[in-house]
Amino acid sequence: MNRKMFGVLCLLLLSLMTKGCAGRPPETEQPLRYEEELGDFSEYIVVGFSQVGSESDWRMASTNSFKNTFTEEKGYYLLFEDAQQKQENQLKSIRNFILQEVDYIILDPIVETGWEAVLQEARDAEIPVILADRSVKVEDEELYTCWVGSDFEKEGRMAGEWLASYLEKQNRSDEEICIVTLQGTPGSTAQIGRTEGFASVLEEHPNWEMLEYQSGDFTQAKGQEVMERFLESYEQIDVVVSENDNMAFGAIDAIRGAGKTCGPDGDIILLSFDASRAALNAMLEGKINADFECNPILAPKVEEVIQKLEADETIEKRQYTEERYFDTSMNLKEILKERTY
Ligand code: AHR
Repeated sequence: MNRKMFGVLCLLLLSLMTKGCAGRPPETEQPLRYEEELGDFSEYIVVGFSQVGSESDWRMASTNSFKNTFTEEKGYYLLFEDAQQKQENQLKSIRNFILQEVDYIILDPIVETGWEAVLQEARDAEIPVILADRSVKVEDEELYTCWVGSDFEKEGRMAGEWLASYLEKQNRSDEEICIVTLQGTPGSTAQIGRTEGFASVLEEHPNWEMLEYQSGDFTQAKGQEVMERFLESYEQIDVVVSENDNMAFGAIDAIRGAGKTCGPDGDIILLSFDASRAALNAMLEGKINADFECNPILAPKVEEVIQKLEADETIEKRQYTEERYFDTSMNLKEILKERTY
């Protein structure tokens, strides 16, 4: 059995052991010696992917994108690890990928900090690390090969600019506007970028008041919980900025539960990010005012990077995906016909 095949088998077994024994910690952190020959992986490009979790519709679309792109038919063997929104799980997965001598590591980092040591270990093992979606903050940018994802700061700015022009059309430019923000996972690139982007427009409007920022961790349940607290705490809320669609769905439930309404004809303006199909449908129903796209179909771009690396071609360090926004002035029914996520 060659080294790569042995490595992949070990990782599969390790992952089966840690997941199979519910509640029981694995007996050893070392890979098992497994003599039985299950198949030959040497013909594949072995890719280890550490995914954030399954917290949102966006995340599910992202997972599908990677699983549908890195297929055995195309010559890849994908080792997929769901970190369940915990950085410690991602660190463990990456170390296992290194131990198993995968060809490439793809990392969607939950938060930006705390990666130096493990990325150095990957570099020492000469395994290229490609960042997808979120990014890392490291002093030495050579610790990763490249990053493929969204311009989150631009998304946040776009949302602020959209709000300014919407209020102008409503003749509300000079009114006092009270805003609350449902933030994503603190310290994640998506949270930092969207918060900072929106804040840059907020600064230009002294009559806009940000009442509070609170994290809903990008999930519907927490989004609802936080929105319920906001509604109890503040009598006047004019705008809710929800840093993803799933928290916006939670917010919609909380707003309805408090006897209020949101959307173009409602009491509260609701802005969201991702622009998933479910959110565009909610917009069609008049519950969301505008949604700022974040493209989860990143795997084809990552595959392009891997193919270039295989061919020894140069790689662009930062690669942004194209994104737009949607609001109720558009023909959403037509847009939904072509929307894949
Ligand atoms: O990092 C991308 C963000 O993470 C998406 O906006 C959100 O839905 C996901 O959970």
